[in-house]
Amino acid sequence: MATERLGVGFIGSGFNTKFHMQGWAGVRDADILGVWSPNASHAADAAALARRLGVGEAKPYASITDLVADPAIDALWLCGPNHTRLANVEEIVDAIRRRTGKLKGIACEKPLARNVREARQILRLARSVGLNHGYLENQVFAPAVTQGRSIIWARGASLTGRPYLARAAEEHSGPHMPWFWQGTLQGGGVLNDMMCHSAELVRFLLTKPGARRSTLKPVRITGHIASLKWTRPEYVERLKGRMGADVDYAARPAEDFASVMIEFETAEGHRVLGEATTSWSYVGAGLRLSAELLGPEYSMSWNSLDSGLKLFFSREVKGESGEDLVEKQNAEMGLMPLVTDEAAAYGYVAEDRHFVQAFLNDEKPMLTWEDGLEVVKILMAAYMSAELGKSLEFPPDGLDGFVPAVARGKWKP
Ligand SMILES: NC(=O)c1ccc[n+]([C@@H]2O[C@H](COP(=O)([O-])OP(=O)(O)OC[C@H]3O[C@@H](n4cnc5c(N)ncnc54)[C@H](O)[C@@H]3O)[C@@H](O)[C@H]2O)c1
Repeated sequence: MATERLGVGFIGSGFNTKFHMQGWAGVRDADILGVWSPNASHAADAAALARRLGVGEAKPYASITDLVADPAIDALWLCGPNHTRLANVEEIVDAIRRRTGKLKGIACEKPLARNVREARQILRLARSVGLNHGYLENQVFAPAVTQGRSIIWARGASLTGRPYLARAAEEHSGPHMPWFWQGTLQGGGVLNDMMCHSAELVRFLLTKPGARRSTLKPVRITGHIASLKWTRPEYVERLKGRMGADVDYAARPAEDFASVMIEFETAEGHRVLGEATTSWSYVGAGLRLSAELLGPEYSMSWNSLDSGLKLFFSREVKGESGEDLVEKQNAEMGLMPLVTDEAAAYGYVAEDRHFVQAFLNDEKPMLTWEDGLEVVKILMAAYMSAELGKSLEFPPDGLDGFVPAVARGKWKP
């Protein structure tokens, strides 16, 4: 049990940082004390949000180095865009190396990096200064997932045998900022952006609670990517209109649908399956997370839009569009689900609690950058499989140097 408090600084002040802040009221023993973002007024806004939420006396900082140098900051949450990850980690590690300051830990959002080479570099940097690192994957902390998994294994699997099939999907109508849509910045399309969640989730569900992650080895991968919606001429124009001229899906598209089948080998030598789909071409009420876990005499299923709370607005209610009912909301009329306390439902609260305690107690978190690297390897193998049009033994040859065509701006769907 921690006897001190962890002072936390955020890098990035966008959508994801604000989600963490919303959930922080449920996190003990830690205060959000700083924010750095290249746009000083955005950093100031995010710091003000933290203060308003009562989760710490946060202030904006002029640089990452300043955050590291402040003895009040014990840990960083890395929530910048994917293409800035490596440079962010380089600056942090450089500040530590020059003894500007010390950190108890660093937590990094998904995906750890855009390809295997970058991920290895990031991991090497953290190791070079002995930094305790954590990989932020909120979905494996979602209460529906953790409770469902633990009861399925305790009741069903213990009496009738281990689960053999896990399914996961994350679907919405498309990301909120231009850089996500640009393969050359983000590292890919929806496979890179959202399959990182689903790939880790199926693995988590299929792993016996308490057992090491290495007891389930990915051995074969089949990936598929497609552009179902956003290369249609009318949507190319809409996307450009919303995201700016640099997001041109007639010239440089990224996939808006991806599926992957991961065949795992268990410690006993059995094959079990993880099947996942992700899309930016799903138009429903809003973000839909779903998962299933199936075994010989049992099953579990979760759908985040089956929220239990529904609101109805008649056609006379023609209000402004917003995201007050659910993330990536698509409508404000008719029968709409409302996800109460999204930060808790999606796993942010339990996730941040876990990483705070790990850093305060100098313990290795449940998910580290080694796990982040392993996820990147699975994603890159899925892209490789999709490009070659065949299943691949995992890890395939050439994985370390592989950069998907989407990430090179060369993909032709
Ligand atoms: N866990 C989840 O479900 C989830 C959800 C959304 C985003 N994410 C991840 O979180 C990260 C941030 O995504 P977001 O949705 O907040 O994006 P965003 O575009 O909303 O915010 C990004 C923030 O980073 C800042 N930034 C710009 N350049 C930077 C630089 N050089 N260094 C550091 N920060 C910089 C921007 O000013 C902005 O404040 C991404 O890696 C994304 O994949 C995770």
